[in-house]
Amino acid sequence: MARYEITTAKSAGFCFGVDRAVKLVYQALSEGRRVATLGPIVHNDAVVGDLQARGARIISDVSELTPGETLIIRAHGVPKAVYDRLKEMQNPVIDATCPFVARIHRIAAEQTAAGRDVLIAGDPKHPEVQGIVGHCNENCTVFRDAKELKCLIDRKCGKGLAIVAQTTYNKLLWGDCIDPLPKNDPDLLIFDTICNATAARQSDADALSRQSDLMIVAGGKHSSNTVKLYDVCSRNCRTWHIEDAAELRQHADEILGAVKAVLEEKGSGHVLRIGITAGASTPAYIIKEVQTNMSEIIDTTAAPENEEINFADALDQSFRKIRKGERLKGVVVSISGNNEVMVDVGAKQTGYITLSELTSDTSKKPSDLVKVGDELELVVIQVNDAEGMVQLSKRRVDEMIGFENILKAQEAGEVLEGTVLSVVKGGLVADCDGVHVFIPASQSGLGRGADLNVLLKQKVRFVIIDVNEQRRRAVGSIRQVQKAERDAAQAKFWETAKVGDVFTGEVKSLTSYGAFVDLGGIDGMVHVSELSWSRIHQPSDVVAVGDTLEVYIKALNPETGRISLGHRRPEDNPWVKFTNEYQVGDVVEATVVSVTAFGAFARIITGVDGLIHISELSTERVANVKDVVNVGDVVTVKITGIDTEKKRISLSMRAVAGDDEAPAEEADEVVYSDEAPAAEAEAPAADDAEA
Ligand code: F3S
Repeated sequence: MARYEITTAKSAGFCFGVDRAVKLVYQALSEGRRVATLGPIVHNDAVVGDLQARGARIISDVSELTPGETLIIRAHGVPKAVYDRLKEMQNPVIDATCPFVARIHRIAAEQTAAGRDVLIAGDPKHPEVQGIVGHCNENCTVFRDAKELKCLIDRKCGKGLAIVAQTTYNKLLWGDCIDPLPKNDPDLLIFDTICNATAARQSDADALSRQSDLMIVAGGKHSSNTVKLYDVCSRNCRTWHIEDAAELRQHADEILGAVKAVLEEKGSGHVLRIGITAGASTPAYIIKEVQTNMSEIIDTTAAPENEEINFADALDQSFRKIRKGERLKGVVVSISGNNEVMVDVGAKQTGYITLSELTSDTSKKPSDLVKVGDELELVVIQVNDAEGMVQLSKRRVDEMIGFENILKAQEAGEVLEGTVLSVVKGGLVADCDGVHVFIPASQSGLGRGADLNVLLKQKVRFVIIDVNEQRRRAVGSIRQVQKAERDAAQAKFWETAKVGDVFTGEVKSLTSYGAFVDLGGIDGMVHVSELSWSRIHQPSDVVAVGDTLEVYIKALNPETGRISLGHRRPEDNPWVKFTNEYQVGDVVEATVVSVTAFGAFARIITGVDGLIHISELSTERVANVKDVVNVGDVVTVKITGIDTEKKRISLSMRAVAGDDEAPAEEADEVVYSDEAPAAEAEAPAADDAEA
């Protein structure tokens, strides 16, 4: 007896889309519905026969539906016109179009709407291709291979094109078509729409057939993906395409002949390698029957008669087992609305992730986080064999990975970034890669009693200050990050800062004697006398917290940490401006700003007032200043004296009237009015006004 090994390709059999469609029919039947499928739900007579025996009808047109009958659209999908027609009818519809096919429909509709012609790689007679054509608004052509594609491109020269492929199109042929085409051409968009299940099945079959002496491909004769598997395998070794075990037995003599030929060529000690794969529509129990019968043929012993293969056992053996708590990878196959993601985990069960198990951020929708085709790291939280469903969680895996990162970050003192999810009693909760980190109010970086809600939904940076590994809790501090950044900024400032350096900073706080300005992590003080050339009573007369101020360093004391800043510029000194522009004898307009018993003060320019002595108000004797001028009056005066040392100015209205003779009680007391206020106790003394 020959020594042999039989290996079944791991991706053999039902794909996700077909599995889902078949289950939907069984489910609808189990709900007691009257069911019709638009064409056979799967290219497999045994499965279709079983469904028919349970009451499912196969129709070829929706007009055959009876009132109240549920129509199930199969995984291949249908043209848009069928949906339009179904909209007008009252029958319930279950759409089992595979999400990967539905994606091609979307691409076809979008590209034709954008004015492009769609070129479809595939079999024009295949229902999936006909469905795609039906979403192209007649702007499409189907091609079979690279040669046909080239002719089409040459013919449509200058017109925008989009190329898609039937999901079961041969990967190798697709490469032949696409490889010679220019990439990144905006007039030639290429969408690789070959389904991964098909590609994986084809590449598994290719690899297995290269290592095998003989290959068996199980599946319907009309199943295009099974035919393609046969094409791939027969390039590498002798291959048979059979529908089921019964057909395999019909080829028993041929197979034994081939076995003999291999052993003659490779020697009787050779271990015969037999590979089995199966198309997307082949149920697991047929694969199991083929395995068993193949062994029996090689053993040249008859199959035990009436041996019954338990369907459930066969399924269990052909799919990987899934256990609660197991970590695995899954591929997103569809996103349903706002709350669920369906995932293929390579098991007989369909995987799903609810929104709350997808993310801890409830403001997000599934489509914000994942897209069809994404591979996700997941953990199994519930297996429900009765319903054929596996509940999965991405959030919990993210939390596990995130928590490992939190531990590493704590050890390294690394600064982490997270988003504040909520304000809770005593602090904040921030999300950091799926882990909830508690930040006490005292570590929030805000002042005592501040409203923590200002940080809600904000990105914050923090270090981990405490971790409870058992309870998977972490405590963070924003304040420590801020302090460390402040310390670093201060160290850098003291290293480099020098008198005269200019900064533009924000006013952080005000006192009665000055304004504190942020120089980039360190504050300096502008004395009140430095804030303005005009007389002011307090800093808030001219600046407010939040204002931006240009300042320069007047003095630095690294020991006390004090930084004195200047703000006034000498060139803005009003006295200097006055003396540059005016001289004794000039006649000017001035505004009376105050009235005293001995005269009136009049403003010549901002910051410079002169005195009009009572004796200079008029050519007549004046008893009361207010009889002649009042605050706000604009008067014409002559500058009769400028005392540069005392910064005093004498003005005369009388002299303007032509009487330059000094009166008996003349007094030339005049003032420059806007002297800076005296410096406060701990503040550095202000420069003199004329500085
Ligand atoms: Fe869908 Fe791919 Fe199957 S397109 S129907 S999962 S082969």
